Amino acid sequence: MTDTSAKLTVGDKTIDLPVMAGTTGPDVVDIRKLYGQTGMFTYDPGFTSTASCESALTFIDGEEGVLLHRGYPIGQLAEHSSFMEVSYLLLNGELPDAETLANFETTITRHTMLHEQLMTFYRGFRRDAHPMAIMCGVVGALSAFYHDSTDIADPVQRKIASHRLIAKMPTIAAMAYKYSVGQPFMYPDNKLSYTGNFLKMTFGVPAEEYEVIPAVEKAMDRIFILHADHEQNASTSTVRLAGSSGANPFACIAAGIACLWGPAHGGANEAALNMLREIGTPDRIQHYIDRAKDKNDPFRLMGFGHRVYKNYDPRATVMQKTVREVFDALKVTDPVFETALRLEEIALSDPYFAEKKLFPNVDFYSGIILSAIGFPTTMFTALFALARTVGWVAQWNEMISDPGQKIGRPRQRYTGPTERDYVPVEKR
Ligand code: CMC
Repeated sequence: MTDTSAKLTVGDKTIDLPVMAGTTGPDVVDIRKLYGQTGMFTYDPGFTSTASCESALTFIDGEEGVLLHRGYPIGQLAEHSSFMEVSYLLLNGELPDAETLANFETTITRHTMLHEQLMTFYRGFRRDAHPMAIMCGVVGALSAFYHDSTDIADPVQRKIASHRLIAKMPTIAAMAYKYSVGQPFMYPDNKLSYTGNFLKMTFGVPAEEYEVIPAVEKAMDRIFILHADHEQNASTSTVRLAGSSGANPFACIAAGIACLWGPAHGGANEAALNMLREIGTPDRIQHYIDRAKDKNDPFRLMGFGHRVYKNYDPRATVMQKTVREVFDALKVTDPVFETALRLEEIALSDPYFAEKKLFPNVDFYSGIILSAIGFPTTMFTALFALARTVGWVAQWNEMISDPGQKIGRPRQRYTGPTERDYVPVEKR
């Protein structure tokens, strides 16, 4: 904490509010005593200027386009690390040595199977159910199957629940896909890596051997790294808020999945590729740029803009590079990539996007890669949920481990009627 304070004057009364510093990034004004001292609340719909918690996991400098996990730049992690290593880092604070990493991978691998009875749960869904609808339901239902890891006061149970969630998400997501195409569910193959196993459970069939293509496995793993955590975004804040009441971890992550589904958040990857396909050819781009700028048209450029980044999203830089790598590895191409590159170029040279500091975000290029790998657009957000699960559980653990943790309970500016007397129906 710094020794500075902020002064707030309301009428003839001035109060001192402590200013607290983080290790980097903006200081925060501690307003916890504001109501007691002034009878007033702060007002910040959408939390544009509100730090809701203290966290040591992820740092973003939106002006500079910087993203650090436990201090390590996302570009370095995407280049040199693996999703399992980043998961360990987020959960434990430090990079593991080789033996610790191997043990962590074994632990996660040993939790990849789903309770067999959950198959029946899947069969209750329509075949055309959106994978995110299935994810919300199945992940929430895990609390009915794993009672031995729902005591949030027990750190060992919290750890087991966290490992279970990280390990079972690929199985849950792959089964959602298999169900939608009417193919048999594939059991996990513990000889494979986390990501290789996911690809096999998604694209393999029991009748044939499945060969994991190393370049695809690497690209997919990198996509998981890029989505692993993003400090207090909407779904993570949802997980924290749900967890603050003492709800069990499976229920909290199901809440996070529900929030992620929205097109302003994780649903944007699906919406972005649909938009690019609708635009089709570069000659049609200007029409969509004009629509995005028109205040009377609800259309927005999907995969563009961010609450925190007022610069290029560093994850989009890596994503764009990965598109080319995957095309080369699979010897495919997709005209939609040319459209995306041209759209970015036109948007970035347009004063509307420059003045509002709207740049491509993580969702702009990811769909092109996922589509080349073979995923239908409806699976894109489910893959985001799979990868973000580690961030959600790490943030949830951080919150529950904090001895000063309180239930999250925002206040409001009331604008409804003031007190009035009930009027019997015959007199209305
Ligand atoms: N296209 C056109 N105009 C936009 C866009 C866009 N994609 N994004 C923001 N704007 C405009 C917006 O109309 C507003 O203009 P004005 O100040 O004249 O009213 C201004 O820019 C600020 O936008 P905002 O909605 O007030 O900003 P926000 O911080 O509340 O919203 C956002 C951030 C990500 C929801 C928004 O940029 C958006 O809807 N983008 C498209 C959806 C998207 O790509 N979401 C993925 C975000 S990154 C991954 C994730 O979080 O899951």
